[in-house]
Amino acid sequence: MANLWEIEGFLEERDGILHIDGRPAPEIVAKHGSPVFVFSRNRIKSNINRLVKIQEVINCKLKVCYAAKANSEADILSAVHESGIDIEVNSGGELQMALNAGFTGDQIIFNGTSKTPAEIELAIRYEIYAIQADSLFELELIEKASEKLGLTANVSLRLVPEIESTTHSGLQTALLTSKFGMMPDGAVDAMKRWHPEDKRLNIHGIHIHIGSQNSDPCSYEQALAALFENLLRIKRETGRSLGHINMGGGFPVDYLRDDSHAPFINPKQRELLSAGYEPADVIGAAWKHVREVAAKAEALELLENIELLIEPGRSIIADAGVCLTTVRNRKERPLQSSKFQVPGSKLEASSKSEDSSKFQVSSSKPEDSSKFHFPSFKSEDRSTPENSSGTDLEPGTSKIELGTWNLELETWLLTDAGFNILLSMETYKWYYHLIHATRADEPHKTPYKVAGPLCDGGDVYFDHEGHNRLPDHRFLPDNIQPGEILALLNTGAYTVSQMFPYNGRELPSVLIK
Ligand SMILES: Cc1ncc(COP(=O)(O)O)c(C=O)c1O
Repeated sequence: MANLWEIEGFLEERDGILHIDGRPAPEIVAKHGSPVFVFSRNRIKSNINRLVKIQEVINCKLKVCYAAKANSEADILSAVHESGIDIEVNSGGELQMALNAGFTGDQIIFNGTSKTPAEIELAIRYEIYAIQADSLFELELIEKASEKLGLTANVSLRLVPEIESTTHSGLQTALLTSKFGMMPDGAVDAMKRWHPEDKRLNIHGIHIHIGSQNSDPCSYEQALAALFENLLRIKRETGRSLGHINMGGGFPVDYLRDDSHAPFINPKQRELLSAGYEPADVIGAAWKHVREVAAKAEALELLENIELLIEPGRSIIADAGVCLTTVRNRKERPLQSSKFQVPGSKLEASSKSEDSSKFQVSSSKPEDSSKFHFPSFKSEDRSTPENSSGTDLEPGTSKIELGTWNLELETWLLTDAGFNILLSMETYKWYYHLIHATRADEPHKTPYKVAGPLCDGGDVYFDHEGHNRLPDHRFLPDNIQPGEILALLNTGAYTVSQMFPYNGRELPSVLIK
């Protein structure tokens, strides 16, 4: 494949035109408008197959439950259902969507911190595999609902195991400071209070979820060890063995597969976005470790008939989705407020700030400071004092060959894809690689400031807070004009499911092939 972003059979450049599952991007926009989200059924399936391989490295039964919150479009849920895996939902609404897509009760698990009695009753009526109880209070609610219906509720207990993962603070879910789950003591109390013979609550599992986009594979070993520790404690203190353990989701996606912009993202965020490992390798190692721990504790029997659940969302759907967007406006602006400066140019004096000093760019031709080869950072300036928020490009190590750029002006491109359809680009400064959809074969070397259409200063494709979690500029072909189509890649997870019609904007079509 000529381009790093290409994925054979799904995302391909043919004669300069981006093809998605064999369909030319401009044809899709002509038919369905812009912006538009396009998903590949085949890619979803191959992502699922990758996860199902975990079964080959563990000697217990695996249950893969797609985390519907990542994308709960009806057609996506149908594609997941066709692949033969199960589903995790977070509300009565998602539960209903899962049922509509063909999932049966025994394929559904139900998470969430604030379930209503009506939602709990729906879950019990459909005899779902597990309602994942978030607190002792919620267990009482479930008990009341099962009494009312005269049916048994299948329940699992969500624990807060105090595991710090390496993801964004907003995506951490296993710390005491996060809002999820009950303490292990609470789980033991629950087991004592609701006996196996109890007709109302069948508590048959425990659950933890350590966060999303976990870049450190060791977190999974810790998670599985924590689950085993709780199994053991429950056995010793209540005499009960459980039927399943649930490790949650969080397997990462490599958003920097095309790493041309990686040098312009701060090291911490870069590590997070470029995380990549095989889930089967990681779970295989974690499983081996936990069996050793169990053997030492003379409690291997606790793992013998256990079922292992996982709840992946992002790793199934993120790279199966593309957002096509159209440039609606273009303008040139003086570089006054930019962090980039040419030593000796008149801009240096006017834009000097504490922050900008670390991004000085040296001119390849100092005598002609209006043109330079961008970028070439001064080595002594390559990171912030904390070494966490600056880019850290070694001079001369950029993987992109960049052309010359007129420094006096920078070009802004205003697209029709704003944070109302890509919310995490604003909330978590999430990076979505941007390419040209009809000039995909041309060098992507010209820097542009890119922004969306919303009446909100935060609706930009760079980190307006100045922490370099996103690159300041996007590199695209030269001389882009309004009307040209661009493609934001890896936009399948936590985008469509969070869209809202801010500014009265019509929501994009979501297609799946
Ligand atoms: C409980 C639970 N399970 C699964 C997931 C899915 O995580 P991911 O999409 O990172 O796989 C989430 C999302 O954070 C979650 O909160």
